[in-house]
Amino acid sequence: MCGIVGCILNNDKAAPVLLECVKKLEYRGYDSVGIATPDSEIHIKKDKGMIDEVDAKVGLSDLPGDMGIAHVRWATHGIPTKTNSHPHTDCSGDIAVVHNGIIENYKELKDSLQSEGHIFKSDTDTEVIPHLIEKYMTTGLDLEESVKEALNLIHGSYAIAAISRNEPGKIVGARKESPLIVGKGENEYFLASDAPAILNHTNNIIYLEDGEMVILNKSGVTVKNMLGEIIEKEVHVITWTPDMAEKSGYDHFMIKEIHEQPEAVKNTLMEAEDIEEIVSQIGDVDKICFVACGTSYHASLIGKYLFESLIGLPTDVILASEFKYSAKAMDEKTLVIIISQSGETADTLKALRMVKEQSKTLAIVNVLGSTATREAEYVLYTRAGPEIGVAATKTYVSQLTCIYMLVAYISKRMDLIDELQNVPQQMTSLLENEGHIKKIAQKYKYASDFFFIGRGFSYPTALEGALKLKEITYIHGEGYAAGELKHGPLALIDDGVPVVAVVPPGETHDKTLSNVEEVRARGGHVIGVGSQEDGDLKSEVEDLIGLDPEINEIISPITYIVPLQLLSYYISVEKGIDPDKPKNLAKCVTVE
Ligand code: G6P
Repeated sequence: MCGIVGCILNNDKAAPVLLECVKKLEYRGYDSVGIATPDSEIHIKKDKGMIDEVDAKVGLSDLPGDMGIAHVRWATHGIPTKTNSHPHTDCSGDIAVVHNGIIENYKELKDSLQSEGHIFKSDTDTEVIPHLIEKYMTTGLDLEESVKEALNLIHGSYAIAAISRNEPGKIVGARKESPLIVGKGENEYFLASDAPAILNHTNNIIYLEDGEMVILNKSGVTVKNMLGEIIEKEVHVITWTPDMAEKSGYDHFMIKEIHEQPEAVKNTLMEAEDIEEIVSQIGDVDKICFVACGTSYHASLIGKYLFESLIGLPTDVILASEFKYSAKAMDEKTLVIIISQSGETADTLKALRMVKEQSKTLAIVNVLGSTATREAEYVLYTRAGPEIGVAATKTYVSQLTCIYMLVAYISKRMDLIDELQNVPQQMTSLLENEGHIKKIAQKYKYASDFFFIGRGFSYPTALEGALKLKEITYIHGEGYAAGELKHGPLALIDDGVPVVAVVPPGETHDKTLSNVEEVRARGGHVIGVGSQEDGDLKSEVEDLIGLDPEINEIISPITYIVPLQLLSYYISVEKGIDPDKPKNLAKCVTVE
């Protein structure tokens, strides 16, 4: 959802470093890219397209100077074009700004600036910012004061970085509702939307809060509030290492992250103490409400099955973007569980802010220090490490691990913890046989529709399998509760339509098999995902993806999603799509 970077180096050339850092943010958007560096003038290179394409075309690192700002864009206002790419400048070209967020009142600001004679070049909301800064700088204010005045007029969300030809050696940053962190290296200073962007340079991070500004120059970093008062900020040393944000020999981040899942589960299992502690603090709760988007929403659905079937605690799962209609139904006895990989999803944060005064809130988040972790009452971290592929994989299984542990400690079902300990090995065995899934992907890559079916705990798995397919293969995929097939979608099953049936051993096994038969009777091709020893399933399906027979239905969602991720990944690769950067999507959605 746009990524921004800024750096001030100790006499090294900034553009190659900005390019390297902004590449790490490409998961946030890849419609266009641009870099600006100041000296006697502001130098800018930018264009639409993926970073490597633009770099090959214009040579992004070929810019002078030891400081600058950079941007990758996920278009909101204005189609992806060179002119709409950031950085944006004022009339004189002396001020350059990069921005992540949305300026809601940009039309009225633009009209008023135009009536004062400002000439706009792009269709973006962002361009009002350099023109506003210009307006104030021409009255004699410096860059910092002018940014502050400009931001006072802006409604909406932003993380920005601004530079001026008149004050080379300085970057002014600010945030409101969009993430922005500061990196303090050895005589070099950074700004970025996310920590992985700058991990090669420093792991000393300052997390900015809404309404804070930061001034970077050669002598250091100063954080201020909007009244201009200096704020002392804690420097956090983060444990993520630079190689965690590299492909490490894999073709794509997504397949690397799929293979990191056993480790992600293992590391998340080490959170047991924190979970026990939170369980002891939460106290009396008579209702659970999960709030999340995308893949995190599917993890939440598994949470509902667990809380209701194992503890009998009424549990809602609400899409964050729809939450406002339910907010009043939460009270002090409700535990609202926010699930978010990034901890920055705008819809999720908005929901959290709506209830945090009236209910208990727990955030399950992957990104250290992200906004949700600072605003929720309780926080649990998934220990998946940085996830770069746009389609969530290892963070999903880590979220599930966290939820299972939470339920196990609340219900004192230690047998669940024992079963979780087996998951990493069960996943590893499956990953060793991924060649079989690759062959299935080759067979079905031309399909135009896929259905995914499952009952009970396997229903959210079916939904998540369908989401993965849509996201990275652009094939229409629909997840259905297997028992609902007969109420509509069966009409769409024809000769050769692929149906992925998730059928782990357990209570729902036989009923799901009956649904498989219904599909076969209409000519559908069933890809069964179940126990490798399940003879009944094997005899009913075209293709079987077999997993460890010890995996029971309740625990199955954590491991059973892996073959579905692999199926989508290999179809995507077969179709020549880059699974790490699916069109129109971004990993971190910071607009509502
Ligand atoms: C985007 C991503 C998804 C993710 C969703 C929620 O749509 O592409 O992969 O599941 O946001 O993100 P969150 O960070 O809140 O889990």
